[in-house]
Amino acid sequence: MRRSPSGILPLIAVERDSRTPLYRQVYRAYREAIVEGRLRPGQRVPSSRALASELGISRIPIFSAFEQLLAEGYLEARVGSGTYVSRSLPAPAPPPAGRSAPPARPGPRPRPISRSPFVRNPPAPEPWNASNGAFRLSQPALEELPYDVWARLIRRHTRNPKRTLLGYSDARGRPGFREVLASYLRISRGVQCEADQLLVVSGSQQALQLCARVLLDPGSPVWVEEPGYAGARAAFEMEGPRLVPVPVDEEGLDVDAGIARCPRARAVYVTPSHQYPLGVTMSARRRLQLLDWARRAGAWIVEDDYDSEYRYESLPVSAIQGLDRDARVIYIGTFSKVLFPSLRVGYLVLPPDLVDPFTHVRGTLDIFPSTLYQAALEDFLAEGHFARHLRHMRAVYRERRGALVEALRAEFGASLDVLGAHAGMHLVMTLSPGLRDRAVAIEAARQGMSLMPLSACYLGRAQRRGFVLGYGSMPAREAGAAVTRLGKLVRYR
Ligand SMILES: Cc1ncc(COP(=O)(O)O)c(C=O)c1O
Repeated sequence: MRRSPSGILPLIAVERDSRTPLYRQVYRAYREAIVEGRLRPGQRVPSSRALASELGISRIPIFSAFEQLLAEGYLEARVGSGTYVSRSLPAPAPPPAGRSAPPARPGPRPRPISRSPFVRNPPAPEPWNASNGAFRLSQPALEELPYDVWARLIRRHTRNPKRTLLGYSDARGRPGFREVLASYLRISRGVQCEADQLLVVSGSQQALQLCARVLLDPGSPVWVEEPGYAGARAAFEMEGPRLVPVPVDEEGLDVDAGIARCPRARAVYVTPSHQYPLGVTMSARRRLQLLDWARRAGAWIVEDDYDSEYRYESLPVSAIQGLDRDARVIYIGTFSKVLFPSLRVGYLVLPPDLVDPFTHVRGTLDIFPSTLYQAALEDFLAEGHFARHLRHMRAVYRERRGALVEALRAEFGASLDVLGAHAGMHLVMTLSPGLRDRAVAIEAARQGMSLMPLSACYLGRAQRRGFVLGYGSMPAREAGAAVTRLGKLVRYR
């Protein structure tokens, strides 16, 4: 059953001077609210005491009104638990003609003025995002989370919370959390930073949007990886820039191709540790070339390091930010993959001169990040739980990745092209260019699978066809059956 708030006082008014007795007014107001569907079957009604106090009348007319409503079957009493709208009532009928206001119809109004084509003309949701079925991207192994530890830390901060945890807080995030996060990023990601360069945000998506707001003007040219991450493109589009797709090859973003297409771009968006979606790690040569171009062009580098904690064949590679001698890299990270997406905790590491403008924009958007999870995360990192969790998850994903690759080879043959399997929580399998990956993905969605077509990752014409397969939430023992279903779909097409 749908849940609804319990014991909320409905909007009713009584007139003390009216010739209609008070009990009759309360009775009618309740009956109308139930018949019109404002109060729904199963919903708890407030106590007579609360209602009397709210309406400023005695409880006696309320008792009488409730008695009448109970007798007529609009309300039911449950022993020891209160009074509810009767569950046996039929679903509310549409109001009889002329009884209540007709539904609002849009009159003349200004059109949404956003520069983003997505706001003026919102795209339909992609069917492969509709379920958490097999191959779902960006979905961690949630059953492996250390719930006991997490619950203990949350309890620690909620049982007798400090006042500072409940009030308004620093727009950049909790200072203590930023301290431990900065230390983690210096040690394990090779990021050069101090806590006061960090901005805690609601996931990397908000970080990307802030970058667009602060760094871009309408028409600003921005390099984006092709194929690339549609979420980043959508965030940038809010400011109406000119997106310039730059191809990705086996060394990562092709900097020469970018220079040839648009030498004076304002910014570039890159996922150098594990390119999204192809999974390439950007070579050292290309990293230096990108930094050199950015310095000469006066461009910003937006580095999205969304899943680099997980590498299976080598140590994590350090961030481009760590090589930057010119303070032009904006580094973005997230806890969505390493813990769970509903945390909505991500962060930016900013060049010092960008801290104030980013903080100002962040503050105007939502004032400051929610503090409870920051406090729990601060302890989670500081007490060593995070390092332990990462070690455990690396082993879990290594096994899942191995099972998926093995199943793919068994189903499609050893010559199948699998890309980007050395890191992260997804890999790419490519198919013959004639295969309509989007059509297969739509059919797969109908069957409850979550198959992302590679062609959907292109801004321009797709150069490759295939699928981006997530394995984070797919236990190794389920890989074989899921791949067999995938094989049938591909062959059927
Ligand atoms: C490349 C990339 N960047 C950013 C994100 C967004 O993550 P968050 O949940 O932190 O907004 C995702 C999510 O899948 C992603 O794949």
